[in-house]
Amino acid sequence: MKILFTRKLPEKLIEPLKERYTISMWTEENDPMPRELLLKEVADADAIFTNVADQIDKELIEQAKSLKVISTMAVGYDNIDIDEATKRRIPVGHTPGVLSEATADLTFALLMATGRRITEGMDVIRRNEWKSWGPFLLTGQSVYGATIGIIGMGRIGQGVARRAKGFNMNILYHNRSRNPVAEEELGATYCSLEELLQQADYVVLLAPSTPETRRMIGREQFALMKKSSIFINTSRGTNVDEQALYEALKSNEIFAAGLDVFETEPITADHPLLQLDNVVALPHIGSADIETRMVMGRLAIQNIEKGLAGERLIHCVNEELYK
Ligand code: GLV
Repeated sequence: MKILFTRKLPEKLIEPLKERYTISMWTEENDPMPRELLLKEVADADAIFTNVADQIDKELIEQAKSLKVISTMAVGYDNIDIDEATKRRIPVGHTPGVLSEATADLTFALLMATGRRITEGMDVIRRNEWKSWGPFLLTGQSVYGATIGIIGMGRIGQGVARRAKGFNMNILYHNRSRNPVAEEELGATYCSLEELLQQADYVVLLAPSTPETRRMIGREQFALMKKSSIFINTSRGTNVDEQALYEALKSNEIFAAGLDVFETEPITADHPLLQLDNVVALPHIGSADIETRMVMGRLAIQNIEKGLAGERLIHCVNEELYK
């Protein structure tokens, strides 16, 4: 049976598979597998190991006549046509849970970097503009004791709330349903999206990408936020109206934004958001610490092995296939 890996993975992860399966792997470190080649390679694949950068759409799934399992090394699966996979009875595996703490770490790193203007500080030194200690040089917003508003209180949201608790923050959250753990153990207060946007010093977006969350934060929502507030997005770029975000930042309607995700990825150096000093941008690295990525890789491989053996995946998106 053939497993198609659309990205190069460490030998340590692949080695144990070599005896039992034919491995086809795209070996460029940084460039994604070209679409043409992907379509060609998937045609006789029994399993595909994919990631957020591949479009696993209807066209691809139709082409993959032998496909028995789709496994993504990610928690999000908005790049995969789940309905089409389900129609063809192909289970889709993903890697929830194991990346929550790493992603919460990065979310908090962006929160602190924007609040305290970390990258701007480094730029000042790089440009040789640091002349002396200044009483109001690069004054930012306080973090300790501030109000954080978490939109999407899932596993990652709870991780962020735990960190916020350590910083004595007042924690607000908005979610489809109430979260008793967040309320009872972390002291988070449930509120409407409007109240959260009006009150939070840090608005942290962690909602999954669905038709309902598409551009859920736009002009109207930025207008509700305080001038001193900071917007953090470590979920999906499609949840935000990027043009509205640009305008809110440019006109100082909000103080700053920390972004790990964008409407269309990758972005390039000429992207309008990168022309602003009050943006900290990262190349979608929320879960990228080495330990976490190895665990994610292993889990995604286990999902493949289960799928090829006709067994239930460890984490399956379209669970209804087993009913
Ligand atoms: C990354 O964005 C993921 O969904 O794991």
